[in-house]
Amino acid sequence: MRYLKAYIKHWKEGICYMKFGYFDDANKEYVITSPRTPYPWINYLGTQDFFSLISNTAGGYSFYKDARLRRITRYRYNNVPIDMGGRYFYINDNGTIWNPGWSPVKTELDEYQCRHGMGYTIITGKKNNLKAEVTFFVPQNYAGEVQQVVLTNEGSEEKTFSFFSFEEWCLWDAQDDCTNFQRNFSTGRVEVVGSTIYHKTEYRDRRDHFAFYTVNDEIDGYDTDRDSFIGLYNGFHNPQAVEAGKSNDSFADGWSPIASHYKKITLAPGETKTLVFILGYVEMPVDQKFEADGKTINKVKALEMIEKYNTPEKVAAGLEELKEHWNRLLGILNVNTPDDKVNRMVNIWNQYQCMVTFNLSRSASYFESGIGRGMGFRDSNQDVLGFVHQIPDRARERIIDIASTQFPDGGCYHQYQPLTKKGNADIGGDFSDDPLWLILSVSAYIKETGDWGILDEMVPYDNDMSIAKPMLDHLKVSFYKIVNNLGPHGLPLAMRADWNDCINLSCFSDTPGESFQTYTNPKFAAEGGYSKVAESVMVATLFTYAGPNYVAILKHLGMDAEADAAQAEIDKMKANIMESAWDGDWFLRAYDANGEKMGSKECEEGQIFIEPQGFAIMSDIGKDQGCDKKTLAAIDERLNTQHGLVLNNPAFTKYYIQYGEISTYPGGYKENAGIFTHNNAWIICAAAYAGAGDQAFKYYSEIAPAFTEETSDIHKTEPYVYGQMIGGKDAGSDIGKPGNHFGQGKNSWLTGTAAWNMVAISQYILGISADFDGLKIDPSIPAAWDGMTATRQFRGATYDIKVSNPDHINKGVKSVVVDGNAIEGNVLPAFGDGKTHSVEVVMG
Ligand code: GLC
Ligand code: GLC
Repeated sequence: MRYLKAYIKHWKEGICYMKFGYFDDANKEYVITSPRTPYPWINYLGTQDFFSLISNTAGGYSFYKDARLRRITRYRYNNVPIDMGGRYFYINDNGTIWNPGWSPVKTELDEYQCRHGMGYTIITGKKNNLKAEVTFFVPQNYAGEVQQVVLTNEGSEEKTFSFFSFEEWCLWDAQDDCTNFQRNFSTGRVEVVGSTIYHKTEYRDRRDHFAFYTVNDEIDGYDTDRDSFIGLYNGFHNPQAVEAGKSNDSFADGWSPIASHYKKITLAPGETKTLVFILGYVEMPVDQKFEADGKTINKVKALEMIEKYNTPEKVAAGLEELKEHWNRLLGILNVNTPDDKVNRMVNIWNQYQCMVTFNLSRSASYFESGIGRGMGFRDSNQDVLGFVHQIPDRARERIIDIASTQFPDGGCYHQYQPLTKKGNADIGGDFSDDPLWLILSVSAYIKETGDWGILDEMVPYDNDMSIAKPMLDHLKVSFYKIVNNLGPHGLPLAMRADWNDCINLSCFSDTPGESFQTYTNPKFAAEGGYSKVAESVMVATLFTYAGPNYVAILKHLGMDAEADAAQAEIDKMKANIMESAWDGDWFLRAYDANGEKMGSKECEEGQIFIEPQGFAIMSDIGKDQGCDKKTLAAIDERLNTQHGLVLNNPAFTKYYIQYGEISTYPGGYKENAGIFTHNNAWIICAAAYAGAGDQAFKYYSEIAPAFTEETSDIHKTEPYVYGQMIGGKDAGSDIGKPGNHFGQGKNSWLTGTAAWNMVAISQYILGISADFDGLKIDPSIPAAWDGMTATRQFRGATYDIKVSNPDHINKGVKSVVVDGNAIEGNVLPAFGDGKTHSVEVVMG
């Protein structure tokens, strides 16, 4: 049978949908059974400094630390056809040419499978009784990608075939590499020694690093010049060396250096041959770069690296070490609910995505080119919320890095560079929400660890240690940055943008190419750059949501007067919101620079927005008047769809110069009524908080990747990770075909959605959250559930938690028994004794 289980068709409400694989939870893998996924489905290799992106057909690239400045292999974004370039193995079996991962030759395989696991990917192809299984991973503490190829003759006759490897070098700076051809076609350099091809462009002059590609066996030839291997008028799909069945031993001198090994292999029936390839990156001290001749690369470090993984046994040990690393990280929180999809999201994929997003920030994915922006102040703070329980030490370090890019008045650089950790002014500061996320990340860190010492840490302002202040001071200026910048209704000024980068209320841009994020209208120059009228209700509610954490911290420190003063500001803000931002059935989005309401029933379009609603509900604003219930009802009616909650409704159908970028998108995309999954989580949290566990779960399951698996042909992007957005119900309306791309995912992998949905499911729905005083248990689950169990490691002890729901309610804890003794309330003490404690929670 060709492509065993290639497409798994199934029916839902009478419509036939397709899946392209299945979850293997025991192995923590997603198994892709067709190479023709609706979009390349990728995985990440590497957890520390060396990273690779790998698609299900082995496309992608590698870099060291910085996806722009240390790009090791080349990749062409937005290529035709999609996903061209990667680490490719070619087999020429008596004229039948194929790749184990199907692409780029695209010869139909007899069998194909791709297993994306935790930091590794295994791609297996079979053709004419020859099977090739390739395992790709980046070992721990290693600056290289290991690729183990296992070739097996499963037929009854001897087979002789030509085998080729292929990598294309990037000339280090990925931006320069794809623009500066007048220079770059003349700089490429390599060295070849035995079975190792070294890439040393610019090594003689200003670089202290080179890369290599090696195999642990003798070879019959090689190519290092791309045109010799592929041919000027051929492509990745038909390299002329592969077609000829042998390489040219070409030696790159300028143009485009590559690395390709060639080996003639004969396998008896049943025989297996294993080859281990390594793509490595090496940095050398400047005075040790060369051998005595002053020209040849000093290979001491490279050879040490090669030595580390040059046998299948060493590879197996490295893979095992990697698996242990992930098992440990994923073992900190483990749940068993009645829903398998929830379990696989919480226990495996959502946590995995949180760690990858933390490692990569927003730098390199199949939608982020790796040459764009630095790390975001708001993005990175929010990322902390999703992974702080896994590696609190790295969260601490990250928080301090981020806070160091704050200004003494509480404002912040919006972005900073991972290599220098310095704030950059590329798109300026003055994003009105930025400071508040710092309060949330620091609080989350203290709640997880009990490490109040972080508040005493001296943290610079503007990366200047001479003006450093304790972290507590950073929280204070963050809090008062909002308080000190209020508009006519006592609501926070919107400034450049709030969380929504595309609501730019001081911009009024009418010139193509002007960046909505960096351009401010000169008419506001006298007011300090921004309208003193435009106000953000979103920031107001984020303030009332985040602010109480600051108050709790002050109280803990015995700073009661300051705590009371801060609380008074929160209370005042709540009153101002009720007074000026309650629209009758939901909360307004903003006041624009003309003082007009945005996100009101009175508006022609964009009458309701998602962003302020969840934080308002979780701040109990107007709760006594039923505002939470009214708001949740309005959300359900006006924003919800079967693919998630749209950001606003109705979509904007024309350009509103006073709103900025949001109204430039066709309806249904991105911030203009797209399903922006990041903020869906705020509503999931709010519904759970308000006790509407069924509603919370409904929204959760509309967007959680494991649930979208069933409609993969519509959703398109990976069914194991969140994307930033899904086409909304208005998608396609601009071209008169409503619903055209409704439900279609985009911008997968690197998104704050991962962290926030982890928070939503684990802390709000399943209700296990670290609090300042202990571990709080407060589930808000589907009434149909009988309960659930969970294991949580927390501050040096393990909690074995059993929740039962005998009355089938959504929310409410009747009793909590810890180690056989009933306790008051629902906060478990921090035992810190290294022991396991049994916890029985009964809802009621
Ligand atoms: C490149 C530069 C040009 C320079 C020439 C020789 O063509 O664009 O300005 O004169 O190289 O160095
Ligand atoms: C992107 C940005 C994030 C912003 C969001 C909404 O995800 O990374 O900072 O909040 O878009 O505009």
